[in-house]
Amino acid sequence: MIRDPKRNPNYVRIFDTTLRDGEQSPGATMTSSEKLQIARALARMGVDVIEAGFPAASPDDLEAVRRIAIEVGNPSSRNGGHVPIIAGLARATKEDIDKAWEAVRHATYPRIHTFLATSPIHMKYKLRMTPQEVVQRVRDMVAYAKSLCEDVEFSPEDAGRSDPEFLYEVLAVAIEAGATTINIPDTVGYTTPWQFYDLIKGIMENVPGIENVVVSVHCHNDLGLATANTLAGLMAGARQAEVTINGIGERAGNTALEEVVMALWVRRDFFGLETGIDTTQIVKTSRLVSRITGMPVQPNKAIVGANAFAHEAGIHQDGMLKHHQTYEIMRPETVGWPQSKLVLGKHSGRHALRVRLEELGYKLSREELDDVFQRFKRLADRKKSITDADLIALVSEERSISPEEELFQLEALQVIAGTGMPTATVRLRGPDDEEYTATAMGTGPVDAAFKAIDNIVGVPTVLIEYVVNAVTEGIDAVGEVTVRLEPRIEETGETASPQTGRVRRRAFGGYGADTDIIKASAKAYLTALNKVVAALRREV
Ligand code: KIV
Ligand code: ZN
Repeated sequence: MIRDPKRNPNYVRIFDTTLRDGEQSPGATMTSSEKLQIARALARMGVDVIEAGFPAASPDDLEAVRRIAIEVGNPSSRNGGHVPIIAGLARATKEDIDKAWEAVRHATYPRIHTFLATSPIHMKYKLRMTPQEVVQRVRDMVAYAKSLCEDVEFSPEDAGRSDPEFLYEVLAVAIEAGATTINIPDTVGYTTPWQFYDLIKGIMENVPGIENVVVSVHCHNDLGLATANTLAGLMAGARQAEVTINGIGERAGNTALEEVVMALWVRRDFFGLETGIDTTQIVKTSRLVSRITGMPVQPNKAIVGANAFAHEAGIHQDGMLKHHQTYEIMRPETVGWPQSKLVLGKHSGRHALRVRLEELGYKLSREELDDVFQRFKRLADRKKSITDADLIALVSEERSISPEEELFQLEALQVIAGTGMPTATVRLRGPDDEEYTATAMGTGPVDAAFKAIDNIVGVPTVLIEYVVNAVTEGIDAVGEVTVRLEPRIEETGETASPQTGRVRRRAFGGYGADTDIIKASAKAYLTALNKVVAALRREV
């Protein structure tokens, strides 16, 4: 497959910004090893461009982008053989562009993505610049980026509310100065599909030099129209779609990768366009992102929600049994949902586990397999049959804990619930290899367990989200818990948002899975708390 829209006019580049715009979701902060894990999954899925971050935001952000450029932006079997372009975002200033270049230059295919607002409201109130000053800055900064990097993307921020004639002028200048991709953002999710189609069409027809660059679309979901707008932009001639996994991103989020890719795939008869995405990796990557960010996927979310392929009504079930196409427009396996239900049990060995995990698309290292096997055995003692969904939860849990951040480990947990005073006793092993025990009372057993953990770790946090999900049916179902915590200390955990320059708080996610929901909660809480402690230590 030729992955270049200039040589293959029906090819749509998938530009994933989960690690940049997605990370701007309130509370979706990721550590640099988590970002690396996601970047690897994106490369394996076949994403063309990974926007790895905003290097000027902080030294940590720069370092994360640099690591991704080195480890994912170069040939490596760990990333599945495909080498994506690695992009770094920069405001239209020399300092930002220098930092972006410092971070991405290690990749085989580096890209600098610079942006400047062009709507009247942004120019007047945010930038305090005249339109002519904006044009001049675009000329200078795109040329400066080009002097460092061959591949330069330019975005006129808030294009959706900009004057089209002014946009044509700015874009022509950016192309003349060396931009190779022109990205049109609907920054505040304001446009409608018809308007956005006209906007892109107008750009295709009126901007000198537009035929020499790739036109891209970047839509936000404030009115729930991001996917529709993106598809309208592609129909008008854009050949790069900027998306995030699960649609995470600023405010109501960005266009969801899985929606655009599957719309183009299922309705290829209508669009006549193709992408380089391995669709069978979609569900796995969605779960990885959900687990790492601590942002659960709503059950009715298209493609990746737990109910996306569930048929409840009798008439539907009857139809499905007669022919699956009666109520199904794509097969669940196409997007990576496991097909078989019952797989392994108490007597299954390591080999069977490894083979089944490989069938599900998980290639584990020896150490990871050892650990998952231990967890599998413990689960099989309590649960008669282990389903694919159980296995995925086990691997998810294993991968949610990065060794360098597993400072405190849960050794034992005992709770007394009921109508009296719910009480929990926990025993943790600390970073000094000592055992610590604490008991606390709470409003319920989960609250008591969290308080007992807090008594040992001693780092004040605020619990901003706690979500419980059953991944399998039945009384012995495995429950998944995700939590998000924010450090309580005012001065820590703040970074600048690239778009608004506003200060943003950092939150840390944790994930736990167990047949015992209180234990799953304690594991998830401890994982998140360990991340807070690790971040505070790094800052010190
Ligand atoms: O939404 C937006 O305008 C952006 C730009 C930085 C491309 O994210
Ligand atoms: Zn955006």
